[in-house]
Amino acid sequence: MTLPIYVQGAWFVGALLFIFGLKGMSSPASARKGIIIAGYGMLVAIAATFLIPGLQNLALMALALALGGSAAWISGKKVKMTDMPQMVAIYNGMGGGAAAAIAAIEFAKGDAHSLATTVLAVIGALIGAVSFTGSCVAWAKLQGVLKKAHRLPAQNAVNVVLALIAIGLGGAMVAMAPAQPELIFGFFAVALILGLVVTLPIGGADMPVVISLFNAFTGLAVGFEGYVLGNPSLIIAGIVVGAAGTLLTQLMAKAMNRPISNILFTPMVASGPGEAISGSMKELSGLDAAAMMRYASKVIIVPGYGMAVAHAQHKVWEMTSILEEAGVEVKFAIHPVAGRMPGHMNVLLAEAGVPYDKIFDLDEINGEFGQADVALIIGANDVVNPSARTDKASPIYGMPILNADQAQNVIVIKRGKGTGYSGVENALFYTDNCRMLYGDAQPMAGEIIQHLKAMG
Ligand code: TAP
Repeated sequence: MTLPIYVQGAWFVGALLFIFGLKGMSSPASARKGIIIAGYGMLVAIAATFLIPGLQNLALMALALALGGSAAWISGKKVKMTDMPQMVAIYNGMGGGAAAAIAAIEFAKGDAHSLATTVLAVIGALIGAVSFTGSCVAWAKLQGVLKKAHRLPAQNAVNVVLALIAIGLGGAMVAMAPAQPELIFGFFAVALILGLVVTLPIGGADMPVVISLFNAFTGLAVGFEGYVLGNPSLIIAGIVVGAAGTLLTQLMAKAMNRPISNILFTPMVASGPGEAISGSMKELSGLDAAAMMRYASKVIIVPGYGMAVAHAQHKVWEMTSILEEAGVEVKFAIHPVAGRMPGHMNVLLAEAGVPYDKIFDLDEINGEFGQADVALIIGANDVVNPSARTDKASPIYGMPILNADQAQNVIVIKRGKGTGYSGVENALFYTDNCRMLYGDAQPMAGEIIQHLKAMG
């Protein structure tokens, strides 16, 4: 069916808004605006869909929109920053599921499509279905519903066999188009199981990378189904999401020094007993920490997951402002995988009002730790663990880390002796120049502020 020009035009406008939105998201300063622009793009694309002549089931469409829209609005308002990765996972899964559902309807209708369109529909359906169940597993793991990684014996062989069966059934659907309902059902069943089986053995630490990979998959699936439906909005949105997801996946895998194949097919475990750590953890008081920083020339703050859980970013910024007023140079060092999702720390610091020119990436700041009087580590652990450089048995071996150990003095705020996400001990905490300030990040930052104020 040829669609009216106003529908095609509106979809095109929607697609342009997606592209402008994504451009805005490339910098923290314009990210919020970018999201809003992309949201308007979605609104235009959806509204235009209702203008297609001869549409049936309008009431059902409106009901789906009302239900989905309200669930998303409420969950989006309520979600905690630390729960964002699982929210991204489940929304992404819905996208993959929607792409697969579009394909399922097209196959079930049995309308004649060109060979190229049928092939794209099958590929989109396969990727979308895998992404749907895989993202659901990712959500369950990050939400703590599924607590363990489940590995089958000969896991990788099972993955390959299932993938080959799904591809074979997909090929049969193309060859026999229009396919029989049994074949369509079998194809979707295997594709959905494949998503489950591939994702179940992957450990929690690798999950954010897997979510990003499924995000890229969903983009591709949506793009292919957009081609099937002749909808430029879906094609462009899909390509944009697919490309962004692929780049993000590569960036995260590089920042953790884990090839994507490794993440998917090899569990993250120590390969031996690991280097022995000598020395002891030495405590200091909030007053000493405040004095050390107050009389320093340069302080570099390394925030991590603990700062996010404690919601300490506002206090940390207040502390920074007091130090700067006293003439101390303060910078923030952000590791690419600090926290639990890409850009986690940047978003929190921006929310607290920290100017972007004080926030530095690993490559920009790593050379400066040697000139810092104090490196203040707040709720970070793995991203400053020097064993990543030297201990070949460590599960984080090879991960680039922030060189906090090279500062004159290191102060670590954390609640106790808990390990980081990877579960390994941190050699930095035992070094001579490191002092531990035990406590929740927020009250601790508050205590330092009180001491700094008293020092004038
Ligand atoms: P972690 O290594 O997870 O360490 C966080 C530390 O914060 C813990 O040692 C914990 O020690 C402390 N903590 C927890 N709650 C606290 C609170 N309320 N107040 C003060 N301290 C608190 O964090 P990181 O250094 O940010 O590293 C991130 C980890 O996540 C890396 O292993 C990374 O590979 C992984 N990861 C991240 C991503 C992305 S994209 N960000 C993706 C995949 C994997 P206590 O329990 O003793 O307080």
